[in-house]
Amino acid sequence: MKKFILFALAGLTSLVSTSPISPSRTTVLEARQGNGTSSAPCAQVSQYMYGDGTTVVLTEIPAGLAWNCLNTVPFNATSAKRLIASIRPYINWQSTLTQLKNPPAEYVEKVQPAVDIIGGLDSIDSRIDAGSFKNEYDFGWALYTLIQSAHDGHFTYIPDSVSQIFQWGRRVPLVSVSSDGEQVPSVFVFADVLGSQFKNISYTPSPVVEIDGMDAFEWLENWSGYGSLQDRDALYNNVFYELAQVSLGGSGSGTGTFTGGGRGRYVYPGDATTLTFANGSSYTMQNYARAVINFRNITSGEDLARKWFSWGNSQTGEASVQSVNTEQLSPISTAALEEAIGAATPGYPTPVVPGPANLINGFFIDAPGYDDVAVLQIPNFVGSTQYEISFQRASQEFIPKALAAGKTKLIIDLQANGGGTILQGYDLFKQLFPDEDPYGANRFRGIEAIDLIGKAYSATASLGARSRDQLNNTIANAQTSYFDYHTDMTVGAKPFSSWSEKFGPQEVNGDKYTTSSRWNLSDVYVEYFSGGINITGYGPLANVTGPPKFKPENIVIVTDGYCASTCTIFAEFLTQQAGVKTIAMGGRSNKDSIQAIGGVKGVNNYAFGYIQSSAQTAIRFDKSLNSSILRRDYYSDLPFLRASTYGVNNRDGLRRGDDSGIALQFIYEEANCRLFYTPEMTVDITALWKAAADAQWGNSGKCVSDGGYGKKRSAHEVTTALKPRRVQIAQAAAVQQVQAFEKSFTLETQCQMRGDGFMEP
Ligand SMILES: *[C@@H]1O[C@H](CO)[C@@H](O)[C@H](O)[C@H]1NC(C)=O
Ligand SMILES: *[C@@H]1O[C@H](CO)[C@@H](O)[C@H](O)[C@H]1NC(C)=O
Ligand SMILES: *[C@@H]1O[C@H](CO)[C@@H](O)[C@H](O)[C@H]1NC(C)=O
Ligand SMILES: *[C@@H]1O[C@H](CO)[C@@H](O)[C@H](O)[C@H]1NC(C)=O
Ligand SMILES: *[C@@H]1O[C@H](CO)[C@@H](O)[C@H](O)[C@H]1NC(C)=O
Ligand SMILES: *[C@@H]1O[C@H](CO)[C@@H](O)[C@H](O)[C@H]1NC(C)=O
Ligand SMILES: *[C@@H]1O[C@H](CO)[C@@H](O)[C@H](O)[C@H]1NC(C)=O
Ligand SMILES: *[C@@H]1O[C@H](CO)[C@@H](O)[C@H](O)[C@H]1NC(C)=O
Ligand SMILES: *[C@@H]1O[C@H](CO)[C@@H](O)[C@H](O)[C@H]1NC(C)=O
Ligand SMILES: *[C@@H]1O[C@H](CO)[C@@H](O)[C@H](O)[C@H]1NC(C)=O
Ligand SMILES: *[C@@H]1O[C@H](CO)[C@@H](O)[C@H](O)[C@H]1NC(C)=O
Repeated sequence: MKKFILFALAGLTSLVSTSPISPSRTTVLEARQGNGTSSAPCAQVSQYMYGDGTTVVLTEIPAGLAWNCLNTVPFNATSAKRLIASIRPYINWQSTLTQLKNPPAEYVEKVQPAVDIIGGLDSIDSRIDAGSFKNEYDFGWALYTLIQSAHDGHFTYIPDSVSQIFQWGRRVPLVSVSSDGEQVPSVFVFADVLGSQFKNISYTPSPVVEIDGMDAFEWLENWSGYGSLQDRDALYNNVFYELAQVSLGGSGSGTGTFTGGGRGRYVYPGDATTLTFANGSSYTMQNYARAVINFRNITSGEDLARKWFSWGNSQTGEASVQSVNTEQLSPISTAALEEAIGAATPGYPTPVVPGPANLINGFFIDAPGYDDVAVLQIPNFVGSTQYEISFQRASQEFIPKALAAGKTKLIIDLQANGGGTILQGYDLFKQLFPDEDPYGANRFRGIEAIDLIGKAYSATASLGARSRDQLNNTIANAQTSYFDYHTDMTVGAKPFSSWSEKFGPQEVNGDKYTTSSRWNLSDVYVEYFSGGINITGYGPLANVTGPPKFKPENIVIVTDGYCASTCTIFAEFLTQQAGVKTIAMGGRSNKDSIQAIGGVKGVNNYAFGYIQSSAQTAIRFDKSLNSSILRRDYYSDLPFLRASTYGVNNRDGLRRGDDSGIALQFIYEEANCRLFYTPEMTVDITALWKAAADAQWGNSGKCVSDGGYGKKRSAHEVTTALKPRRVQIAQAAAVQQVQAFEKSFTLETQCQMRGDGFMEP
């Protein structure tokens, strides 16, 4: 359930002198902490939340108290053993398992180290046998971080103990900005940057040089490593407050991972965090935990274990839900959520063509010198059937409108884009470049389960015509799947002749993969795969042809590195096939070149549930499979009962003309230009678009370049003070919006978006 948690932030004035925790809350905190200190930590949490039963329920708890409680949930080794066994069949679908273990050298040097997932599971198994897990959380965290260490946003297993009891946060968002766009960035408290925009704060904002006594850059880079992106500069950006993420409401990473947005919500931040500033002052904030479940009558870790964990049934080895206690805290209506997503766009001007729920918006830049520039801002490729058609319509409307208004240049702003519906990425590419043929080859691992499922689906699919008029649901169900060989086409754009041709497998770089395939965009079932749209240039829209709408050199892609999944599919087509250039924003405090595409470049994700239902459906199609591994491996519900999120990257993306067999995920590629964020850009998106236009087309723009590759700086070396400045009238409105927004509520990630090419925050 996506929700906005409302609480007061008194953070606009100096954070050093004013606690960002509202006074009333602080009082309650002290009063409640004073009681029951001798009882078990979980009883204290319960007492803290409910008090004497007459005060309001507090769902935010001092982090240290929650941490102590979480660590008293006893370890259930029996359930843990079964859990590891039950997730292995799903993990086998992860397309990059072999490449993760042995990635290209450049990936290891510049992106992430190698990781052996299967070896890691084996090691967790041995640790269970050796009795070395201290408690349930200790086990859950080991499992969580093993999968997270793959840094593949599609590959997730988030155990109950990590996500379903508490989530974590800090109340002070940070930003990393360069005072003039040329000096390497320093880290500031966002409220300081905000205050300096109005030239009305009474002190000179000073950068954060240490966090908990460690060099701030080092500390933040370490913290950023808990994110799901692979690229280190993209991970670093994701720590901070950023307008594009905020525009996504609870479906983005909120006010940054430092504050518990995105994957930051799963990481214990410590009970308190101390910021030390270059001017010598420091500020210690109390961190918080948000209770995800109802703690009424909880008196111990054992209670939590009994009431809130579904361990599975000991007799059958299959899971059964023991707990019927499903009361969730503060549910928020869907209507309220929809409204909230649409409302939270501080810092953006009014779109010329608004799309649905802020997932896509078309803008013109209202400033002298930028008359010929249009901006298509796309922070998501949509994953809800409700918005698919209106999402497509927004660009169908905006592109001709921009051209008619004399715009010859187009900025495509993909900041914060975790993907969505795969075919929306294809469609938008075709709208811009009607005569290009999107390549998009992809492959699965060539494992037995996939072969068995494909045989059964293909046989059933072949019993009837592949037609929109197919009325037999069983047959239509089989036909609308990758596992029917009639779906997709070969890399040479020919139909596959059999399942065995589509499956292969081919041996490539030490693993077996299915034969590479491409989407058939003329397929009669394309609307099913696309969530409801026809694809520009194909089928009923085959009449849309012609030269590019904008010349490739007149388009530029802007990212913050947080471009994943469908976003990377779209970017790959634009850059590799059409020759469009990229600008990467932000990054760590150095002057190195950085990547524009920092999120998972796998081209499809399957939730475990989709895999399970495909396996079970295959058995229904072909009863003889009831004695196969499909029956053995895909009937336990334990993986679902013991986690909040579970999925794999099932398809690798492959580059046109590259016969190395290396998945796109492991290819390092630098952006054409890098720009630092400036203070203005954290409150006014137009400032960023102007800088992008200047860099790409103007005379004044300068891309950051080279101060000696790999040079590491300490935060103490980079301590530019922010000069209070008076913002232009045009920006003042944006700043005021951000101020109002900051005052009224903070964002927490509670993503409800889905998609077949989507990385959840
Ligand atoms: C700064 O000025 C703005 C606009 O007048 C106002 O909303 C804000 O409260 C002021 N901030 C401080 C710290 O005085
Ligand atoms: C502490 O909590 C207990 C049990 O809820 C209650 O009976 C007692 O009055 C509380 N004491 C104080 C000082 O609030
Ligand atoms: C531990 O898990 C097993 C099954 O996996 C279950 O039967 C047992 O009741 C659980 N133990 C406790 C103490 O909950
Ligand atoms: C030092 O910097 C911090 C952070 O910007 C600020 O809150 C504080 O007021 C400054 N202290 C002095 C004495 O200027
Ligand atoms: C951060 O540093 C700590 C302490 O060295 C280490 O245990 C942890 O693994 C690091 N985190 C990441 C994400 O690298
Ligand atoms: C808590 O315990 C009391 C007394 O045993 C009981 O009346 C109440 O229903 C319980 N509440 C919940 C939410 O379990
Ligand atoms: C659909 O086709 C399957 C496979 O040929 C067949 O067994 C089933 O009876 C058909 N269903 C209907 C409603 O015709
Ligand atoms: C794509 O699908 C259409 C309609 O189903 C079909 O006619 C065509 O042969 C397919 N193309 C390929 C290359 O498989
Ligand atoms: C897609 O094309 C089909 C077939 O021509 C048509 O029935 C359908 O309305 C189209 N869908 C959209 C969203 O335009
Ligand atoms: C393409 O055909 C559709 C109807 O199938 C029509 O609505 C559209 O205007 C045509 N587009 C062009 C560019 O001719
Ligand atoms: C399928 O196999 C399971 C166990 O392997 C068995 O319990 C079940 O009865 C079988 N179902 C059928 C339809 O044969």
